[in-house]
Amino acid sequence: MAWSVLTGERMTLRPPVEADVASLARILAEDEVSRWWVGYDDSRVRDEIVASGSALVMEIDGRAAGAIFLYPNEDAEYRHTVIHLFLGADWYRQRYGAEALTIAIEHLASLGHHRFTLDPNVNNGPAIRSYERLGFKRVGVLRQYQLRPEGHWEDGLLMDLVLSDFPDGLDWRRD
Ligand SMILES: CC(C)(COP(=O)(O)OP(=O)(O)OC[C@H]1O[C@@H](n2cnc3c(N)ncnc32)[C@H](O)[C@@H]1OP(=O)(O)O)[C@@H](O)C(=O)NCCC(=O)NCCS
Repeated sequence: MAWSVLTGERMTLRPPVEADVASLARILAEDEVSRWWVGYDDSRVRDEIVASGSALVMEIDGRAAGAIFLYPNEDAEYRHTVIHLFLGADWYRQRYGAEALTIAIEHLASLGHHRFTLDPNVNNGPAIRSYERLGFKRVGVLRQYQLRPEGHWEDGLLMDLVLSDFPDGLDWRRD
């Protein structure tokens, strides 16, 4: 499913292109990103992001600032969308993560979706804070969920957001 271009207040979400490979690989090599998105090189960026059909680049001021991945489950009985994302350090602490989630969720809502999930590592404080502030709730701990480069497993945190909690819509600016 190729996603269309989605425009927000400060950023645009657009399908990735070959020209994004270098900048996304550079971001994925940053300490804060590679800590959670482990072992990405140009070929993985090409295969798993540019060619995936699930990814959208976060474009801010004409620069590729990160990517968000949308995996909708269209089974009518269990309809929901799994989301993953990463942002470059140049754009931290300005709620760009929450804005990207808002743009994607509003688009999926227009396609009939109502439930969204994220699964950060339990030690990923900034991500958990960013998601909770937008309105994601902690569902439970996913034990021994992420294999770390050192060889041990770490827990994940399943978080979900349901649109019925937000009759007036999402607000990534709210505290
Ligand atoms: C998850 C992510 C998109 C959130 O980024 P963001 O949009 O900058 O988040 P916010 O601006 O909403 O900041 C959230 C909180 O974390 C803090 N924070 C953000 N980036 C931080 C960092 N690199 N180090 C420490 N704290 C940080 C902020 O200060 C804020 O806390 P506060 O409001 O109490 O001050 C971003 O941290 C990221 O991409 N990280 C690397 C990859 C990753 O973890 N992806 C998610 C995997 S589930």
